[in-house]
Amino acid sequence: MTAKHTILQKLPSDLAPDRLPQHVAVIMDGNGRWAKRRGLPRIEGHRQGVDALKELVRCCHDWGVKALTAYAFSTENWKRPHEEVDFLMMLFERVLIRELEEMVRENVRIQFVGNLAVLPRSLQSQIDRATVATEHNGGILFTIAANYGGRQEILQACRAIATKVEQGHIQADEIDEELFSQHRYTANLGDPDLLIRTSGELRLSNFLLWQMAYAEIYITEAFWPDFSRAEFHRALSAYQKRDRRFGKV
Ligand code: FPP
Repeated sequence: MTAKHTILQKLPSDLAPDRLPQHVAVIMDGNGRWAKRRGLPRIEGHRQGVDALKELVRCCHDWGVKALTAYAFSTENWKRPHEEVDFLMMLFERVLIRELEEMVRENVRIQFVGNLAVLPRSLQSQIDRATVATEHNGGILFTIAANYGGRQEILQACRAIATKVEQGHIQADEIDEELFSQHRYTANLGDPDLLIRTSGELRLSNFLLWQMAYAEIYITEAFWPDFSRAEFHRALSAYQKRDRRFGKV
């Protein structure tokens, strides 16, 4: 374990353990700009971004956050230069292979959300392997959104429900939030309490649109590769100062 990992290992004393978000979602933005500032190719930003993500998973584990969902690749990201897309696919695959043993050891349960069927075959195999190898782990639920789009998730749920109505399995007036939620990509994934977006952008970018209804949003100017435990601490402090009313007074 490096010095970086030993800093702030325990929940900082100014944070209330009973008021932590149960589920944190992150939009990991700014990898490209981080690299550009250093005169490096964009892919170096993504490479560093993996380390920041690993550290956040560890931090959630150490501090008692139960679920973390990271937006790794959106349905719109295919429009990037194909070298970058290929690199990202290769990176996801490599990281899964490299980190699986440690995730099993640290009791992390990993799963993916998104339209996974069109990802490269070899990546799909590693996704299946990691999902199965960790499915009984009881630690943090770590979800990676890959080829994910919030609108696409809603549409596929609508199609699945419409088919059931067509076939007479359910009545249209039985469709409620609960039934809809069961048809999302991953029914076991509850709503995020806190969304963190790095690099100062103020957008949802098609991420977990249904699930984000009551999420608290925290934006930091830091680029994703610089997102540290200290940054996460600031995000949690801000979260704990919010008054979550869910529409009530
Ligand atoms: C957005 O920054 C970042 C991405 C589209 C990729 C995020 C992926 C990782 C951090 C790797 C995660 C690894 C695993 C295994 C899940 P950007 O490239 O849009 O940055 P820019 O806005 O500065 O150009």
